[in-house]
Amino acid sequence: MNSIKMKAEDILVANTVQFVKKRLQNEFSGHDWWHIYRVWKMALYIAVREGADKYVAQVAALLHDISDWKFTDLQNPSDEIRLWLESQKAPDKLIRHVKLITDYVSYQGANVPDRIRTLEGKIVQDADRLDAIGAIGIARAFAYGAFKGREMYNPDVKPVLHNSFEEYRHSQSTTINHFYEKLLLLKDRMHTSTARQIATERHKYLEVYIKKFLKEWNGDI
Ligand code: ADP
Ligand code: NI
Repeated sequence: MNSIKMKAEDILVANTVQFVKKRLQNEFSGHDWWHIYRVWKMALYIAVREGADKYVAQVAALLHDISDWKFTDLQNPSDEIRLWLESQKAPDKLIRHVKLITDYVSYQGANVPDRIRTLEGKIVQDADRLDAIGAIGIARAFAYGAFKGREMYNPDVKPVLHNSFEEYRHSQSTTINHFYEKLLLLKDRMHTSTARQIATERHKYLEVYIKKFLKEWNGDI
C-alpha cells in the first residue's frame, strides 16, 4: 500500500482550481484565471505567515471573483459558490465561511468601511488588493478601463471619494481617477502586517508611475 492518499481539503482545492479555470476562460477584464492564480498564491503565503486556516483562505481566494457584482446579472450571485461547494460535499462550516468572505471581499468605495471580519477574510481581501497595486495593478486598471470603454485620463473629470456602494458602482470615471478613488488608498486599508509590508513597496511604484504619467501628459519633457 504505497499510494499517496490526498487529504479531502487538498482534493477540494485541486477541484476548485479546475472549476474556476474553466469558468473564467473567456474573461478579459483583468479578472482572468491568472488574477485568481496570483490571489490564491498570495493568500496562501499570507495565511502561512499569519497562522490562519490555509484551506479556507485558498478556497475563498479561488472563488472570490466567481460571482463579482461587476460581471454577473444573477439576483443572488453567491449561490453559484454554494452550489459548487455543495457538489463537492464540502463541510457546511466551510461553505458558510467561504460565502461570508466572497460576499464581502469587494471594494465598495473610498468612504465605505470594509465589513470583512474573519482573519481568513481579511487575508483574501489583502491578497486581492495587492494584485490591484504595483506593476500588475497598473496593467489591470488599464485593461479594465479599456474593457469598459473608459477614457484613460481626462483632466476635466475630477476623482470622487464615494460615500456609498451605489455611487461607486455607477461611477464612470477615468482610469487615472481610479488610482485616486481606490488604488492609492489600498495601502492604508491592508489588514495584516504581512500584506502591509508588500503593499508599501507596490504603493511607492504607483506613486512614481502617476507622477510620471501626469508629467508627460502636461508636456513636461
Ligand atoms: P474588487 O473586488 O475589490 O473591486 P477585483 O479583484 O474585482 O477587486 O479587481 C478589480 C480590478 O479592476 C482592479 O485591478 C481595479 O484596478 C480594476 N478596476 C475596477 N474598477 C475600475 C475602474 N473604474 N477603472 C479602472 N480599473 C478598475
Ligand atoms: Ni479579484
